Amino acid sequence: MTENVTNKKSAMMEWIDKRYPWTDFWKKHLSEYYAPRNFNFWYYFGSFSLLVFVMQILSGIWLVMAYVPTGEGSFASVQHIMREVRYGWLLRFMHTTGASAFFVVVYLHMYRAVIYGSYQKPRELVWLVGMVIYFMLLVEAFTGYVLPWGQMSFWGAAVITSFASAIPYVGDLLLVWLRGDFNVSGVSLHRFFSLHVIAIPLLLAVMIFVHLVALHHVGSNNPDGIDIKEKKDKKGIPLDGIPFHPYYTVKDLVGVVVFLFIFCAILFFTPTMGGLFLEPDNFIPANPMVTPAEISPVWYMTPFYAMLRAIPDKLLGLMTMAAGVAIMFVLPWLDRSRVRSIRYKGRLSKIAILVFVICFVGLGYLGHEGVTPLRTIMSRIFTLGYFGFFLLMPFYTKIEKTKHLPERVTG
Ligand code: HEM
Repeated sequence: MTENVTNKKSAMMEWIDKRYPWTDFWKKHLSEYYAPRNFNFWYYFGSFSLLVFVMQILSGIWLVMAYVPTGEGSFASVQHIMREVRYGWLLRFMHTTGASAFFVVVYLHMYRAVIYGSYQKPRELVWLVGMVIYFMLLVEAFTGYVLPWGQMSFWGAAVITSFASAIPYVGDLLLVWLRGDFNVSGVSLHRFFSLHVIAIPLLLAVMIFVHLVALHHVGSNNPDGIDIKEKKDKKGIPLDGIPFHPYYTVKDLVGVVVFLFIFCAILFFTPTMGGLFLEPDNFIPANPMVTPAEISPVWYMTPFYAMLRAIPDKLLGLMTMAAGVAIMFVLPWLDRSRVRSIRYKGRLSKIAILVFVICFVGLGYLGHEGVTPLRTIMSRIFTLGYFGFFLLMPFYTKIEKTKHLPERVTG
């Protein structure tokens, strides 16, 4: 009986394989994709990012079924979803918690790439495509935030689009072009809706695919930052490689269970995270006549917002904020170290990464809080520290003494 089923399956696979390279694909990217055997905790976050992406798409599809993308109907439709649509509250909180979870896992995923030098040759494109994904995620989060049409949605959209007006000569034209109106209005809401549910998710899906194709073309890095392809057995299989499936699919599945446990705990017990994931002012309908006491973006954008506020001049502030994101794109060309991983880099790199983390988290905190003279000074110091990490990298990675690399991966 079992043999019969197996035979049937293989006959079906044969039929498919003649028409579509399914088995080849499965082998190339899973059962015969040899990943380093020493992946650790930090290597969970790629799969988690993928999982959250799928969760956002699914919860988003169902939200759109009851959401009304107009200035008049939007706020009320979100209330309808929360109170009257069956499990609408669950869908909405899945989506809002998912947005923050996305940034948590993506930031940790990026941090892993920084500490293990995964952006270095030959993975520059993996990093660059990742940065495009990160930028699109920021746009996706912003356009989504406008949709409930609460006070923060409206005023957030007003502040962010107004940045365009700081650009000399074309600023005012650009502002009207972005908003589709002379002020933020239902027209702006409708175009953000279109971008949020169609254009950016589509682009994100394509870019995630390109990200993984680029990674599988060069092979994964690992916590030691050494190339496993240099030591192969007679069959050409890396001595320190193990098939991604079943070893890492099963390992990732365990991680996914733990992740979902934490995710559900937040979703069911503290979905607004004390105002960090969903701000209190956004439970008040948009009102162009009343400005909220404090306008600040959601936590994942506050590091860059703090940079903007640290600079007194509007245009310079905007340029600094944009440079804060842009400088990450060129990271692969700033690191001149002979080794990839922090395990073998020198003391200067370790101090630099520590300074970077303190500055980034510090800016995130300051961007969330109101402005005081002391906080402005702190923001300026942290902004300098943030840029210092990148701009001084060619020097400290070049002059520091690195440790001897092992022949084979450790751990
Ligand atoms: C939706 C967002 C993203 C998804 C779904 C995603 C997915 C993945 C997956 C599944 C892997 C392989 C597993 C792993 O190494 O953890 C990976 C590797 C990698 N990702 Fe991403 N990623 C995303 C965003 C980013 C971003 C924003 C960056 C950086 C700017 C980035 C940089 C990298 C790098 C450098 C690697 C190779 C790591 C190594 O081999 O050590 N990714 N990504």
